[in-house]
Amino acid sequence: MREMGNNSQAEILFIKLKMKDGQTFINFLRNKFKNTQFIDQKFKILHENDNILFPIVNDQDLIDKVILLVDKEINFEIISKEGLPNENYKYRTLQKALEGKIPDKYSEFIPKSYDIVGHIAIIEFDKLNNINNKIFNNYKQKIAEVISSVNKNVETVYEKKSQIKGKYRLRELEVLYGDDISKTIHKENDCIFKVDVKNTYFSPRLVFERRRIASTEIQEDEIIVDMFAGVGTFSIQIAKEKNVKIYAFDINPNAYQYLKDNVELNNLKGRIIPNNIDVKDLIEPKNQLGQLLYNRASRIIMNLPEDSIKYLDIATFLMKESGGILHFYQFSEKPNPRERSLKNLEEQLTRFNWEIESIINSKIVKHYSPKSELVVVDLKIKASK
Ligand SMILES: C[S@@+](CC[C@H](N)C(=O)[O-])C[C@H]1O[C@@H](n2cnc3c(N)ncnc32)[C@H](O)[C@@H]1O
Repeated sequence: MREMGNNSQAEILFIKLKMKDGQTFINFLRNKFKNTQFIDQKFKILHENDNILFPIVNDQDLIDKVILLVDKEINFEIISKEGLPNENYKYRTLQKALEGKIPDKYSEFIPKSYDIVGHIAIIEFDKLNNINNKIFNNYKQKIAEVISSVNKNVETVYEKKSQIKGKYRLRELEVLYGDDISKTIHKENDCIFKVDVKNTYFSPRLVFERRRIASTEIQEDEIIVDMFAGVGTFSIQIAKEKNVKIYAFDINPNAYQYLKDNVELNNLKGRIIPNNIDVKDLIEPKNQLGQLLYNRASRIIMNLPEDSIKYLDIATFLMKESGGILHFYQFSEKPNPRERSLKNLEEQLTRFNWEIESIINSKIVKHYSPKSELVVVDLKIKASK
């Protein structure tokens, strides 16, 4: 069983009124105290016989002010009793949820955000250089525990221990809270993704990008190649909505296995053909799939931002020479990352005797590092005459 946060056992203060006075009291607070929070929304409102008990914030000055004014209008009693956590309460920030739980001097080290993948939260402490790690380690666990208590589906919290790296684009993770179970099911945009956050690449931050690509004008009979498919995030999202044929490749055997599972798990309109090979193999004359796909793709997705540029020979081999759409992801240096990315792409395409017919879109997808951004460019490209 998951341990609950401290709040579950706490005695807190309530203002107890007759049920019939409940709405009058709420109106009174609205009129006299406007945006000041008097009712503590982290706890449930309780009902006892014909009484209603509003949990109130732990702020004596505010309590005194309210009592003074309400006294003239409504009969009430201030009582202390165990509060029941309100599972629907959303803290606006992790900092807020941790108030009073870790010393103020450490509050600047509390991450501003974290990722949630299925039952897993993934957190990064990126400012810890100047503090005593041994002492802060206890607080890391407290932070992880609070993340779990404010997100009712989160049972495991990992800390990022490295950058994304290696051929399979994975990162090291260390468990801070809960069981070290890295396999999970993540739901997004009506799709279900089985992922293993330690052994397959998956970023919940690309949710809008996947939605965007799937909702572009994709024709029903298209042949699409997802060159670096991972667990199938782009492919599944597209095939969920469109009756297309997608050849999805990944070199990581784990990603391939999950990709196959995800094809089964999602009720797809289109067809996905998963492959566990290095896409570079497709260009080999003996590779039958490469020969089959040569000059046939109408759309290619290249989401390997650090290295996609090295695979343009494969993309131009597979793409219809008469023209097709390329969704190209790349880390690109500032300033002008989009312009740099386009220039780089154009130069490389020329090397293979291909050209840009039109630029459909280019944008920064997300911040990557102090020096660079993740950029996507959507282009129509064709073989030069
Ligand atoms: C950045 S991830 C993107 C995964 C997926 N498109 C997504 O957005 O969730 C890149 C993926 O490409 C795979 N990969 C890297 N080099 C490859 C290659 N030469 N051939 C096929 N897959 C490759 C990695 O294993 C990894 O799963």
